[in-house]
Amino acid sequence: CGIVGYIGFLDAKEILLKGLEKLEYRGYDSSGIALRNEAGITVFKEKGRIADLRAVVEEDVLANTGIGHTRWATHGVPNQLNAHPHQSASGRFTLVHNGVIENYHLLQEEFLQGVDLKSDTDTEVIVQLVEKFVIDGMTTEEAFRHTLALLHGSYAIALLDAAEEETIFVAKNKSPLLVGMGEGYNVVASDAMAMLQVTDQFVELHDKEIVIVRKEAMTIKDLDGTVVERAPYTAELDMSDIEKGTYPHYMLKEIDEQPSVVRKIIQAYENEQGELAIDPAIAEALHEADRLYIIAAGTSYHAGLVGKEYFEKIARIPVEVHISSEFGYNMPLLSEKPLFIFITQSGETADSRQVLVKIKELGYPTLTITNVPGSTLSREADYTMLLHAGPEIAVASTKAYVAQVAVLAIAAYVEAKSQGIAVNFDLKKELAIVANAIQSIVDSKEVFEFASKDYLSTTRNAFFIGRNMDYCVSVEGALKLKEISYIQAEGFAGGELKHGTIALIEEGTPVIALVTQKSVSLNIRGNVKEVTARGANPCIISMEGMEQEGDAIVLPQVHPLLTPLMSVVPLQLISYYAALYRGCDVDKPRNLAKSVTVE
Ligand code: G6P
Repeated sequence: CGIVGYIGFLDAKEILLKGLEKLEYRGYDSSGIALRNEAGITVFKEKGRIADLRAVVEEDVLANTGIGHTRWATHGVPNQLNAHPHQSASGRFTLVHNGVIENYHLLQEEFLQGVDLKSDTDTEVIVQLVEKFVIDGMTTEEAFRHTLALLHGSYAIALLDAAEEETIFVAKNKSPLLVGMGEGYNVVASDAMAMLQVTDQFVELHDKEIVIVRKEAMTIKDLDGTVVERAPYTAELDMSDIEKGTYPHYMLKEIDEQPSVVRKIIQAYENEQGELAIDPAIAEALHEADRLYIIAAGTSYHAGLVGKEYFEKIARIPVEVHISSEFGYNMPLLSEKPLFIFITQSGETADSRQVLVKIKELGYPTLTITNVPGSTLSREADYTMLLHAGPEIAVASTKAYVAQVAVLAIAAYVEAKSQGIAVNFDLKKELAIVANAIQSIVDSKEVFEFASKDYLSTTRNAFFIGRNMDYCVSVEGALKLKEISYIQAEGFAGGELKHGTIALIEEGTPVIALVTQKSVSLNIRGNVKEVTARGANPCIISMEGMEQEGDAIVLPQVHPLLTPLMSVVPLQLISYYAALYRGCDVDKPRNLAKSVTVE
């Protein structure tokens, strides 16, 4: 979910709506705004996209203060009733919330007997509690703080009080929230991107802080009421980075940016001698570790699978890769000197963050690999490596995956070199070759458009198979297709398919096979034959040097360890075109959100 707020002298409505459009990547099943003026608070909310909200917002309601929300449903179906903002029984208080309140039922039973709740959300309980404590005699600030102290769970909150002079009450715990500062106005946002339209000066908030935001001032306090001083920082984001330009979709723009992302990463991780290098403290932490634990979700988890290959094959450090939502609640036996590596594009994923919190409690060192400087996981880990991919807006991750794999390769390579392990290739040179290879792929999009039409335009399911590094990419290719085209897809280790799943192969089932690993190229071709004999429609994507007649696509040659950086690109493009054919919303697929800040 995403939150915005504005308090100042301009028309809040337009600023809030524009801000929400920038935050749509965080959820888009319903949205709403609340506008406060002398007449009171007016709420508009609607199921669907921000465009649907825009259509119901009345132009003539003018206000200089307001809050807004775009939702990714957790409690309660996405409908207008459950959309935020939520209001207290009397209508005096209006609130937007991102996060999950675990004890809301208990709080409701204990404090809100007799209050008729209008929605199914945990959020409404918060706003009703504030009103209850105000009725009991507290000031709004006291009631807000008292309520927050009762909440178990995660929250980023913005609250309006119709009876208070123009103020937005803000609080944060575990969910991201920033306050932005301007001349004569202040803003609130889940992500700086939303409010770059009016300021680039932001103040980070820490967990369990509240902020009293007024036009000319903002005061941060801890839950005890002690004032906290914190200087603003400049958000180094370029508006052009977050606009689509002439592209029909962000996803296509981001796929096209991949060659330059790889080149940027080479530059960012170069020392003065032009050699690849990483922060010496991180090199030391890698050196100290007897085992690496990579923790991630979604596409980042798939990048982690490739990372394991790099650290084990290049730097000879044993690695385990874990899904974050499982790891925190079912921890394996740990080695003596583990180093935890969190891979997260957004740096905000709650599933990954809960592991980081637990690992910090255990006292082990932590490294976050993220695209977002200053994000929660970056701030909270001991070390950070940045992806330098530029903002990724499309929900389905593309350039961030490539960036993650490239940064993991650099970390493993630099570590190996510093340990005196013989590495028989020049990674910088090989990455430059990869950048060119990706360029040639994105320059021939028609090939993938045709392949997508041939294989995927009418199918109801599809399989991606590969062995070795190609297996890691197969699972990412399947995820991409599922996410944006809603075709049921599965990535499989080529040899494993026959042990059960082959039962699903029917006449015409597309099987997309990656053949970029010489040592197993004959084996995977054998697996393709097995499925073809059972009616499958095979699409072989091979690499120069091991191509055969009949291969659907032959990719340029790159170093065998770096093939994931390149071979994922055709799979991204094939998925993109499949989604287009099927009329799906490429950048905002149903049910998903870019950054899931609830567990
Ligand atoms: C969400 C997105 C996925 C993403 C995953 C992990 O579920 O829809 O595309 O891979 O979160 O996100 P992260 O920001 O931690 O990489």
